[in-house]
Amino acid sequence: MFAKIQETAAWIKNHTELRPTTAIILGTGLGRLSEDIEVLETYNYADIPNFPISTVEGHSGRLIFGRLGGKDVIAMQGRFHFYEGYNMKEVTFPVRVMYELGIKTLFVSNAAGGMDPNFSIGDIMFIRDHINLFPEHPLRGKNFPTGPRFPDMSEAYDHQLLALAHEIAREKNVKVQEGVYVGVSGPTFETPAEYKMYHILGGDAVGMSTVPEVIVAHHCGIKVFGVSVITDIGVEGKIVEVSHEEVQKAADAVQPVLADIIAEMIHRL
Ligand code: HPA
Repeated sequence: MFAKIQETAAWIKNHTELRPTTAIILGTGLGRLSEDIEVLETYNYADIPNFPISTVEGHSGRLIFGRLGGKDVIAMQGRFHFYEGYNMKEVTFPVRVMYELGIKTLFVSNAAGGMDPNFSIGDIMFIRDHINLFPEHPLRGKNFPTGPRFPDMSEAYDHQLLALAHEIAREKNVKVQEGVYVGVSGPTFETPAEYKMYHILGGDAVGMSTVPEVIVAHHCGIKVFGVSVITDIGVEGKIVEVSHEEVQKAADAVQPVLADIIAEMIHRL
């Protein structure tokens, strides 16, 4: 695995002279954040050696090198989900490659179901912490030398980045939420009883991504900022049928505001 990561990183370094230290993983419906990026170079996942290929609707699958907030960035347009059938090594492969490329700060976005009764569809939730409920751990197996065997997780989401995000949201008069993201495998959305259980367990939002990438990034010493867009509500009495299309529509509506916050955060890094 390590050899493959090195091979992929070497291929990318041979193809570009850009050396960004900031990366963004664009989640469901937030792929349009890429429109704010001044695109310099793109690489289709299919052309990058050893890269998995994304299959889910709404994810186009390319690595973008460009400029955002006055800085060089790498953006992953399309990510790999456990529910697609990838194992955790595959899901987190791009993060390991990005570490090898010199990434120091990672922004991750996702769509999620809101379980906090104060949340509404279209809310932006800055992720303070997560609960990992995936059935396979991304660090299971031989330990990578990027971090310790038993990594501390007391600050998986960097407190300074979180404070900066709040500061910028306040300045821009954007109402935001903060909370705990529960990562589950999917692909089913939750039953009402499951939403209730995850909320009782301490979760404010639930989704099918992010946690694996964040664990691996943290293990590599990469600082992480995570954000969920609340695309549906999993609160007792308020639950209605949910579809992938509705999730994308809700996420798309918030995209410009979120893009603005993220660009400003990168500008101030
Ligand atoms: N549950 C899980 N994943 C999701 C949801 C949800 O309600 N909304 C968007 N992604």
